[in-house]
Amino acid sequence: MGDFRQNIIPHIHNIGREERQALKKHKAKILWFTGLSGSGKSTLAGKLETYLYGKGYNTYILDGDNIRKGLNRDLDFSDESRKENIRRISEVSKLFVDAGVIVLTAFISPFKEDRAFARELVGDDDFIEIHVDCPLHVCEKRDVKGLYKKARAGEIKSFTGIDSPFEEPEHPDIRVNTALNSLDECLSELIKNLEPQIRI
Ligand code: ADX
Repeated sequence: MGDFRQNIIPHIHNIGREERQALKKHKAKILWFTGLSGSGKSTLAGKLETYLYGKGYNTYILDGDNIRKGLNRDLDFSDESRKENIRRISEVSKLFVDAGVIVLTAFISPFKEDRAFARELVGDDDFIEIHVDCPLHVCEKRDVKGLYKKARAGEIKSFTGIDSPFEEPEHPDIRVNTALNSLDECLSELIKNLEPQIRI
């Protein structure tokens, strides 16, 4: 396995991240949303992207349910597949950062080890972990997609929060609580924290 990789020699191209950031006039970052299904990751990422777009920032959202229909359609919800899901998303996010884009990722990303992998791959300076905090019973009550009901009925196996763990981030860069605060309050909190970090 290791042998064929020895013969791959990366090409260094003339235009790099610095040039692209200068062109776009803002920094590239990864805004990594993590939290239970139904906590509000995609909704918040979408609201934040709309705000950033309105301000002229270049953004892109990578969202679990969407990516799992395409790039990651071969992956299920076993621990191993979730790990591979996050590995691929981390690599794709890294490409987006190199392309000078602010990438917002909305994946449950339940395992600490996998989130740490993403942070290490991308680099600490560019990686902002956002914990979208919401107690399980609230997510379950919302049950926007009806999946908690199915999981409780045993129709879905390995469902996060039910029979598959969610390892809470201990020290996220930002934590918002969608059970205690409105989405607009959470959004304001994100904007207040993030905008200074993406301005050049
Ligand atoms: S992750 O754990 O690998 O990060 P990801 O964010 O890609 O998960 O996908 C989660 C989405 O898939 C959920 O929002 C939900 O709509 C759907 N889903 C389907 N089956 C499961 C399951 N067993 N556990 C969690 N989410 C599931």
